[in-house]
Amino acid sequence: MAASKTKCIGILTSGGDCPGLNAAIRGVVKAAIGSYGIKVVGFLDGFRGLVQNRTIALDDRAVSGILTQGGTILGTARDKPHKMPVGGKKMDMTDAAVENIRKHHIDCLVCLGGGGTQKNAYHLHKEGGIDVLTLPKTIDNDVAETDITFGFDTAMNIATDAIDRLHTTATSHHRIIVCEIMGHNAGWLALGAGIAGGADVIMIPEIPYDLKAVAAHLEKRRMSGKRFSIIAVAEGAISKAEAKAAADGKKKKDKGAEVVVERDADGQPYHLVQEPKASQIARQLQQLTGTEARVTSLGHVQRGGSPSPRDRFISSILGTAAADALAEGNYNNMIAVKGDRSEPVPLKDVAGKKKIVPADHPSIISAQRLGTCMGV
Ligand code: F6P
Repeated sequence: MAASKTKCIGILTSGGDCPGLNAAIRGVVKAAIGSYGIKVVGFLDGFRGLVQNRTIALDDRAVSGILTQGGTILGTARDKPHKMPVGGKKMDMTDAAVENIRKHHIDCLVCLGGGGTQKNAYHLHKEGGIDVLTLPKTIDNDVAETDITFGFDTAMNIATDAIDRLHTTATSHHRIIVCEIMGHNAGWLALGAGIAGGADVIMIPEIPYDLKAVAAHLEKRRMSGKRFSIIAVAEGAISKAEAKAAADGKKKKDKGAEVVVERDADGQPYHLVQEPKASQIARQLQQLTGTEARVTSLGHVQRGGSPSPRDRFISSILGTAAADALAEGNYNNMIAVKGDRSEPVPLKDVAGKKKIVPADHPSIISAQRLGTCMGV
């Protein structure tokens, strides 16, 4: 058993679930206990369980068999310690969180999560004075200062498989198929799956789209004899008009929904229909091109099921690297992926930042070289 400056840790998972979380928990727990004799306290349901002091003891038995399981055995939530919903109000529960950490004699709180979790962990460190260590998780791959987040590879496999399958109906019915892919702020997943799946159009939040340009591209395809098209749309994609309105501060970027009011025979509105972005795009492209369009929104399917081998690998490497950092007393960092290895990066350089797709990213250039329309 090697020496360790850390005797006891807490661990929690926060934000959207994703494949690889359990593999990461397993990596931290097995290495912390097995190599350093560190005690591990699991907090349930993210920061909410920390504030409410809901825990489970994590030992080798508790993490046995979870490497291949999706989701998180700890449960998760999107709550923030300093804006915790209590009785319909958002309360600052930082003190309660700190008190529970002290109660368990925890030296460092390990937080597995996306951008929001990185920010909340750093806030807890700055305002609560506790030591934290984080791992980068999300299918969006939009956490700053790491080459990749676990969850992304599995989601890219799922979304690519979906695009492959959608080619079947598109070619049979000579249709436009719009496939909505997760990614509110960053288009990494839509870009990756779009290229891997051979999508003809890829629309990402970073490149506001012009549907007329997309329609012209589809028309060019039709004139060249291609009677179908597949469009990969990130759920956060916005039109040039929406981007301009947002830039002018006129209108918050809508969450990909246009309000369509349905009316009865007398013209009276009878209910409000929120039209998801992908449906809006499909409807408008059908009008612009005269080609039948259909929509498939992949939603949470992209976060389901067993993690890919690559995600299990990344999660395990990051989890064990976290245990090494804990043993060295090397706190308040995120354990990032850098090239073919892991590396602790200061959490202050991660918190509050997003990693979005640069307009000149090589993947975008490659997509364009393949003749893919990027929405403009
Ligand atoms: O943050 C990951 C993510 O899957 C996003 O891609 C998606 O927009 C969001 O979570 C969905 O959040 P929820 O699971 O809370 O509906």
